Amino acid sequence: MNICLHKPTLKQPNVLWLLFFVQQGLDPTDYKIYDYRVFIRNKLIILSNSYFFPEIHALINDDLSAVDALILERLQSDVVLINQLGRYIISGGGKRIRPVVVLLAARASGATGDEAIQLAAVIEFIHTATLLHDDVVDTSDLRRGKETANAVFGNQAAVLTGDFLYSRAFQMMVEVQQMRLMEILSETTNVIAEGEVLQLLDCNDPDTTEERYFQVIYRKTAKLFEASAQLGAVVAQQSDTFEHALMEYGKHLGNAFQLVDDALDYSATTEVMGKNIGDDLAEGKPTLPLIYAMQQGTAAERTMIREAIEQGGGEQFDPIMKAIGRTGAIDYTLQAARQAVEQAVTAVSVLPESSYRDALIALAHFTLKRTL
Ligand code: IPE
Ligand code: IPE
Ligand code: MG
Ligand code: MG
Repeated sequence: MNICLHKPTLKQPNVLWLLFFVQQGLDPTDYKIYDYRVFIRNKLIILSNSYFFPEIHALINDDLSAVDALILERLQSDVVLINQLGRYIISGGGKRIRPVVVLLAARASGATGDEAIQLAAVIEFIHTATLLHDDVVDTSDLRRGKETANAVFGNQAAVLTGDFLYSRAFQMMVEVQQMRLMEILSETTNVIAEGEVLQLLDCNDPDTTEERYFQVIYRKTAKLFEASAQLGAVVAQQSDTFEHALMEYGKHLGNAFQLVDDALDYSATTEVMGKNIGDDLAEGKPTLPLIYAMQQGTAAERTMIREAIEQGGGEQFDPIMKAIGRTGAIDYTLQAARQAVEQAVTAVSVLPESSYRDALIALAHFTLKRTL
């Protein structure tokens, strides 16, 4: 499958946009338009999910709409603040990439029922809970082009609503009534928590090794992708070999996804990515671009990066960016991501041919091109 990928570029307004602005009573002189995001005075007003991978969406469009509807329905709580904060983050966009993995894996495995939709929603709830918690831990104030939930509602409300989403995910998982699914998801959330704690230990530690970095990204990110793909095989009651192939696919895809994320933190723009660029450095997070730049840098560069990791290096952003550029640390990180994508593609290629399997392959390639 050939994904038609729109690169987010700054666009000229067309007549339709102008009409839209006038209709909404907005001042059409003060905006920026990317393909899918429109900013007015730096405030994001529109973001479209279906932009991300239109051809994949076309394949599972009804399923994805059902997932979104289910997410909104199950977000409901009698506690008003949970509704407000939950809606704020869930409706704030998000690529829904993990639900896409669940659905494609399930359909590629021959599952035709609604369990895949329920599980895709469960996975997105778990993902969203980790984001709410992660932004508190990382003291981030921008996500999905908007202020983070912690910035708007405060740390306590963000953490507690994250807990609500985790437990709602578990209620929904139990409804499917399959012990195997509960095993997978309870282990997954446990591993993610370990990953976040391991990362906390590495924060401000310039001696963090590449090996350790890979342990962290597997746990905090790749494990959820691995589980997403695995669930697809499990709901279809596929063989162990089939299930294992999808797990390998998800694991490598997730590793690639986080590697690209860590490269983007030094190479994207805040506007396009919708998250603050340079956050990792400001926090003293030893991600692969920094680890490699230290390995390959001059003694002076090494000292500078070590200190930035130890103390949190927001002020040193420009010289460190120079060192990252000079040592080719972004290329190195992206090369590792490319390798992971190849491994993902190899793993999933043993599945019988289908448009869903091809979409999983296309999704893996998309990961390398994403800019947000
Ligand atoms: C962000 O994940 C967290 C990482 C693992 C890097 P996504 O990039 O999938 O976040 P949304 O859901 O699209 O906002
Ligand atoms: C994401 O790590 C991992 C989880 C949310 C569990 P990051 O800290 O790199 O993600 P962003 O950059 O904040 O999305
Ligand atoms: Mg973060
Ligand atoms: Mg990041």
